[in-house]
Amino acid sequence: EAFRVVRNPNPATDAERAERLKDLAFGLQFTDHMAHMTWTADEGWADRRVEPYGPLQMDPAASVLHYAQEIFEGLKAYRWADGSVHLFRPVANAERLNRSAWRMALPELPVEDFMESIHALVEIDQAWVPDAPETSLYLRPFLIGTDVFLGLRAPKRVDYLLIASPSGPYFKGGVKPVSIWVERDYHRAGPGGTGAAKCGGNYAASLRPQMAAIERGFDQVLYLDAATGSVLEELGGMNVFAVHKDGTVLTPILNGNILEGVTRSSIIQLVEDEDLKVVERDITLTELRQGIEDGDIVEVFACGTAAIVTPVGRMASEDFDVTVGDGEPGPVTLKVRQRLTDIQYGRAEDTYGWMTQV
Ligand code: COI
Repeated sequence: EAFRVVRNPNPATDAERAERLKDLAFGLQFTDHMAHMTWTADEGWADRRVEPYGPLQMDPAASVLHYAQEIFEGLKAYRWADGSVHLFRPVANAERLNRSAWRMALPELPVEDFMESIHALVEIDQAWVPDAPETSLYLRPFLIGTDVFLGLRAPKRVDYLLIASPSGPYFKGGVKPVSIWVERDYHRAGPGGTGAAKCGGNYAASLRPQMAAIERGFDQVLYLDAATGSVLEELGGMNVFAVHKDGTVLTPILNGNILEGVTRSSIIQLVEDEDLKVVERDITLTELRQGIEDGDIVEVFACGTAAIVTPVGRMASEDFDVTVGDGEPGPVTLKVRQRLTDIQYGRAEDTYGWMTQV
C-alpha cells in the first residue's frame, strides 16, 4: 500500500540545507519529513503516511514511556558518484526488526511496508543524501508502544516511525584506532534476555559502564557473557572481530545475547572471499589477551552500521593493558573497511546483490 504524502509546509531552503550538510557529525541533523504508520490490535497496520518531521503527540501513559516497549533499526542510504542513491541490505534490517518485534511482543511489520516507507522517505528527502566522503543518510526505523494503559501487557497500539539523519562518521578522526575497556562488573545481556533484540533498553543499560570507561580514558566498552564472565560478546553498539597472525579471522558466535549485525554478517562474507578463514566461536578474554600479548592476535576491530569498521588499538581492564599490534590500523581491518565501503559507495561491483537503488 502506498504512503500518503503530507508535505512539510516549511522545508529547509536550499541554502539552509547546504549549511546543515556541512561538516556532518553523526546523528545531529534531520531531514524535512518522516514516515509513520500506526498499528492497532483491532485493525492491524494502517494510516501509512509521510509527514513533516517534528515532535510526536503522545499520551503520557503511552507504554513506551513506562515499560520501554521500543525496538529500532539502523541502515544507510549512500550517494554514488553519478548522483544516484542506494541502500545497503535493507531487507536484512526489515527481517531483524521483525525478530526484535517478536522478542518484545510488538507486532511484526510487513517487509513491503518497511521497504515502501524507506523508498517514500528517501525519495521525498533525497536532496538530504549528502555527497561528501564518508557521509550518508542514516535511516532510523523504530517501533514504539503507544497503548494508553499502565498495565503491563503487549501493547494494543503501536507506532512505526522512520526518521533520516544526514551523517558523517560515528567516530571523529577517520580510521583512528579506539581504545576499549573490558567490563567485568556489568553485563549488557544475560542468557534468555534481550541481548539479540535491537531494543532501546540494551543500549540504555550500556551507558553507565560507558561513562565509567570514558572517565578512565577509554572510548568504548567490551562486554563479557553474563553466565561465566569469560567469553567476549560485543561492544555497547558494535560487534567485534579479532585477526590471528595466520590470517584466521575470529568473531564471537551468535549465542542469543549478541546483536546479529548486518555489517558483521557482511564482513564474514567479504573476509571469506579474500580467501581468509572466518571462525565464529566462543572467544575467551584470556585467549584474546594472551594472544595480543604474545603477538598471535595482531588486529582487533569493531563494526556496525554507524561505526562501519573501526580499528581497536588498545584493550584494558583492571588487571591488564595491552596494545593491539603496533596500535595502528592493521591490513585486514583496512582491507575489509575498503571492500565494504567500495561496495556501499558504488566504487566496486556489487557481486552480492547487497545494494538497492532508491
Ligand atoms: C548502528 O550502528 O546503526 C546502531 O544502531 C548503533 C547505534 C549505537 C548508533
